[in-house]
Amino acid sequence: MYFELSEEQQMIRQAARDFAQNELKPGVIERDENQKFPAEQVKALGQLGFLGMMVDPKYNGGGMDSVSYTLVMEELSKIDASASVVVSVNNSLVCYGLEKYGTEAQKEKYLKPLAAGEKIGAFCLSEPEAGSDATSQQTTAEDKGDYYLLNGTKNWITNGSTASIYLVIAQTHPELKHKGINVFIVEKGTPGFTIGPKENKLGIRGSDTHSLMFNDVKVPKENRIGEDGFGFKFAMKTLEGGRIGIAAQALGIAAGAYELALAYAKQRKAFGKAIAEHQAIAFKLADMATQIEAARLLVHKAAWLKDQGLSYTLAGSMAKVFASKVAMEVTIEAVQIHGGYGFVKEYHVERLMRDAKITQIYEGTSEIQKMVISRDILA
Ligand code: CAA
Repeated sequence: MYFELSEEQQMIRQAARDFAQNELKPGVIERDENQKFPAEQVKALGQLGFLGMMVDPKYNGGGMDSVSYTLVMEELSKIDASASVVVSVNNSLVCYGLEKYGTEAQKEKYLKPLAAGEKIGAFCLSEPEAGSDATSQQTTAEDKGDYYLLNGTKNWITNGSTASIYLVIAQTHPELKHKGINVFIVEKGTPGFTIGPKENKLGIRGSDTHSLMFNDVKVPKENRIGEDGFGFKFAMKTLEGGRIGIAAQALGIAAGAYELALAYAKQRKAFGKAIAEHQAIAFKLADMATQIEAARLLVHKAAWLKDQGLSYTLAGSMAKVFASKVAMEVTIEAVQIHGGYGFVKEYHVERLMRDAKITQIYEGTSEIQKMVISRDILA
């Protein structure tokens, strides 16, 4: 077993760390407060190659491995999870799905600008009544010969208004249940496709979350990805990788809060010494550091399995359920260590605590991850 990162991986991590400090940190409090999408920062992330990290360079990607992707996700999420979720969705759900299952023509037309960061993608699975139960898709895609007619509503869509390219999951053959579901590439501006107002959220407030409405939207047949009925498998396979990205995001949120709490505890004095020297605080820091390290090992293992071409379904779900729990627990402790200062925005930890919660909800709730894990261990 070898736990050291390669030189290249360390360089990628440093680049992400520098970017987070220099480009994301300034303004992160205001963006959170005003629910402002980090547009300029996302553009710069695209120029750095972080929006299509694992895509083959022949499609404008970075040709990097999944471990590097988790390093970038961790570093960005230490500072701004609203920006890192764009990186996660674009890489794991949109670029991955298109590269793995798209036709050459789809890759030329859609993957290339997405991987180059010239365009942003969105993954549209959740519905008002199909969140965890993703097989119950109510959005329909009627086969009309040379096109499909899309009707329905999607909820909680990350990059809802900033994306240009949407992967939309819809039911074509309801009698076949999940085997009748398809996935389509839909371009922004297609007649009948409208975007609802931005959601006013507890956390990741800078990210751009909307519902989407499809009213008799004509989608050309060549925009279906995979065989007829492949949509549900497509969603499951892309989400497997997505869960590694969100696990890395949760890890970053935890690590960011821990680093702030550690620095604060060393300089803040009470009862004649730094609070870090009081065992009550030192033990909290020890627990936080241990939990973060365990989460990091799970995240890296899941990414490593993916890089080796081995199954990562179980490892990805374990990493996500554990890292998101750690994110919640560690951020709460980080606020506690900061005392009253932790409760005000200038100290960043209250934002990280709010941001942590979504990692237990999106790309499969913790309960869904436990369903995946228990099915595997009981099989
Ligand atoms: N890979 C390939 N196929 C899979 C699979 C996987 N990981 N998981 C399930 N399948 C297949 C099964 O083999 C089965 O196929 P067959 O009938 O051919 O055998 C089919 O899918 C149905 O499987 P199940 O009977 O297991 O389906 P289920 O409904 O009982 O459970 C689930 C599946 C794991 C709970 C799934 O519904 C799920 O993952 N739900 C959560 C959805 C989710 O993560 N939503 C997140 C929204 S996206 C988001 O948040 C993005 C964002 O904006 C940040």
